[in-house]
Amino acid sequence: MGNRDTELIKEILDLKTRRGAVILAHNYQLGEIQDIADFVGDSLELSQRAAETGASVIVFCGVHFMAETASILCPDKVVLLPDMNAGCPMADMITPDRLREKKKEHPRAAVVCYINSSAEVKAESDICCTSANAVGIIESLDAQEILFVPDQYLGLYVSARTGKEMILWPGFCPTHVRITPERMEELRQEYPQAKIVVHPECRPEVIALADEVLSTGGMLRYARREGVREMIVGTEVGIIYRLRKENPGKRFIPVSEQAICPNMKLITLEKVLWSLEEMNPEVKVAERIRLGAKAAVDRMLRIGPKR
Ligand code: 13P
Ligand code: SF4
Repeated sequence: MGNRDTELIKEILDLKTRRGAVILAHNYQLGEIQDIADFVGDSLELSQRAAETGASVIVFCGVHFMAETASILCPDKVVLLPDMNAGCPMADMITPDRLREKKKEHPRAAVVCYINSSAEVKAESDICCTSANAVGIIESLDAQEILFVPDQYLGLYVSARTGKEMILWPGFCPTHVRITPERMEELRQEYPQAKIVVHPECRPEVIALADEVLSTGGMLRYARREGVREMIVGTEVGIIYRLRKENPGKRFIPVSEQAICPNMKLITLEKVLWSLEEMNPEVKVAERIRLGAKAAVDRMLRIGPKR
């Protein structure tokens, strides 16, 4: 670490204390951001932390929908997203208008939205889910018809796991589609002892080759198991930093070095410091939308962290 980074980190930590702020970071964030965070986790863990925190300011090191979820749960707190351009292309693959049209075609369907969606889309949904609890959430529903948005691949996976047919939205993660079954086959030959673990945002042909299909938080817990010495990892490469840091002596092989979410990497130490200095950019959800979105997120949190 250079002198500049050491200085930046000191300034961030000082200002964080003075502002009464907490820093939450997603598992895909740059290593230096993970290192300064008070808590690093997956989408479900981060929303639970945001809901629980006593801090008056949350610096959200992740993408826009994650900061929005924190604002939905904590309307009285200032939620800072150090770069407003850190969006999620999958979340942008659905709009509230298009969802309303689809709901008219299926008026009796329960609407389940992946947390990777805007607050307005959440407000149009009955319940939210994350990759960590999607199977449990779908199992908890007794609706005859389920409309699942916006990730078709998570939807396909959950449908196969639960045996429930669902109407799927054609959204996908542009980062996870870079993970190919061909490369996984090669790595499997190269590391025959390794466990293959992938994220449910991967394509079905990738999921078919995996030993485990887990959220990023689930991958971190799985990696701690005694029997796991080598792991082929099918998700965004940022998680490799934390896997290696927490498990020295174990081997982690990313399926694709190109599986990079450019939005996640927009958050830098400089931007974290500027956001605390200027208390900006702030993510705030309009109350009319927030209440509807909160109902969907609360229903998810009540069902609990079933993984
Ligand atoms: P997790 O909730 O598993 O961390 O996933 C979030 C995400 O955006 C995956 O691309
Ligand atoms: Fe969105 Fe994919 Fe980035 Fe996750 S990895 S934030 S789903 S674009």
